Amino acid sequence: MSGQENGVVRIGVVGGGTYGESHLSTFKDLEQSGKVQLAALAEMNDERREQRRQQFDIPVYKSHVDMLDAERLDGVTVATPDHLHLGIALDVLERGMHCMVEKPLDVTTEGCRKLIALAAQKPLLLQVDFHKRFDPYHIEMRESFLEGKFGEIEYGYAWMEDQLFVPVSMLRAWSEHSSPVWFLGVHMYDLARWIMGSPAPAVVYATGSRKKLKSMGIDCPDAVQAHVTFSNGACITFHNSWILPDQYEAVVHQGIKLVGTEGIFECDSQYRGGRGCLKGEKMRTWNLGIKYRERDKRNRLRHRGYFYSSIADFAENLLFLKESGTLAQLDGLYPSGVDGLAATQIACAAEESMRSGRPIEIT
Ligand SMILES: NC(=O)c1ccc[n+]([C@@H]2O[C@H](COP(=O)([O-])OP(=O)(O)OC[C@H]3O[C@@H](n4cnc5c(N)ncnc54)[C@H](O)[C@@H]3O)[C@@H](O)[C@H]2O)c1
Repeated sequence: MSGQENGVVRIGVVGGGTYGESHLSTFKDLEQSGKVQLAALAEMNDERREQRRQQFDIPVYKSHVDMLDAERLDGVTVATPDHLHLGIALDVLERGMHCMVEKPLDVTTEGCRKLIALAAQKPLLLQVDFHKRFDPYHIEMRESFLEGKFGEIEYGYAWMEDQLFVPVSMLRAWSEHSSPVWFLGVHMYDLARWIMGSPAPAVVYATGSRKKLKSMGIDCPDAVQAHVTFSNGACITFHNSWILPDQYEAVVHQGIKLVGTEGIFECDSQYRGGRGCLKGEKMRTWNLGIKYRERDKRNRLRHRGYFYSSIADFAENLLFLKESGTLAQLDGLYPSGVDGLAATQIACAAEESMRSGRPIEIT
C-alpha cells in the first residue's frame, strides 16, 4: 500500500555517504512512529550502496531516476556533494515529490532560482537542511530577538571551523569543488540572518588565504573572512576555515555573537561544558546539541540532537501536508528555498569579492 493510501509518508534518499547516513538513520528512527517509512536509497557507488542496503534493509538503486520512477515516494532528500544537488533536486520536483536538499541549496544563484520557481509552480515543499536553526541555544537567540530583547542588531560575529581531516580525507573526493564558504559559511550566513528575522543580504566583502592545503596539493582556500551587511543595517563578520589541527578538541569549532541597541547574546555553539578523555581517545569537548544517544522504551539506542531534528523536520512537514495542512501555513516555519538562495547569494558574493578584492553589492 502506498503512503498516499495509508497516511504514511514514504521518503527516499539520494546519496548514502557520510551525511546521507544521518538522513537514513533519521527516517529509520521515525519508522517507530508508524507514520514515516524510509522507502529507498539511490547511491551511485556500488560498495557503499551494498553497505547501506545491509545496514538499513531497504531497496537501493544506482540511479536516482530509477528510484524516483520505481518507488511511490512522497518526498526525497538529496545528500550528494554540493555541486551535484541541482540536477537531482530538479528531477525530484519535476516528478511531483517534495524535496529537502542538503546545504547549500545549490552553488549558483541561478540554480537556486530554478528550484524555487519549479517548487512554486508545482506547488511543492522545497526545504534546505540548515540544521543550526534547530540548536536550542540558537532558537532562544531568535525568540529573544523577536521579543525585541536585542533592540536593533548592529553587529555580530559568527565562526565555524573544521579540523584539517575534513578537506584532506573526509571530503577528499570533492573538497576542491567546495571551500570553507560552501561547506561551513552557508550554515552561519543562514543562522545569523534567521535569528535577525531574515533580512536580505546587501553587501559582502571577503578575504581568504591559501597556505596549508596548497602545501598539500589541494586547490581550495584554507580560510575565508566575510563581512556581510544586511538590509537591516547589521554588519556581521563570518570566519570560516577547515585547517584546525586534527588534535584540536573537537571536529568543529563554532559559535555566534550578536549585539544590538538593547542587548548582547554570545553563544559558544561548540563547547557546552562537557570535557574529557576516554579510552583510546584524545582530550576532547562535546557539543551534545549536535548529537547524542538516548534509549527508547524498547531499550533501543536512538539518534537525538539537531543533526537529526533538522532532517526529521522534513518528515514532519510532509505529514502536516498529508494531513491537509498547506504550504502557506508552513511559510516561515522551515528553511526554505528562498533562505537557501540568500545563503548562496552571500557565498557567491564572498567568492567574487575574494577574486576582485572589492565589496560586492547583492541586487
Ligand atoms: N548539514 C550538515 O551539517 C552537513 C554535514 C556534512 C555534509 N553535509 C552536506 O551533505 C552533502 C553530502 O556530503 P557528504 O559528506 O555525505 O559527502 P560524501 O562524499 O560522503 O557522500 C556523497 C555521496 O553521494 C553519492 N552520489 C554522488 N552523486 C550521486 C548521484 N547522482 N546519485 C546517487 N548518489 C550519488 C556519492 O557516491 C557519495 O556516496 C553535501 O552537500 C554536504 O555539504 C551537510
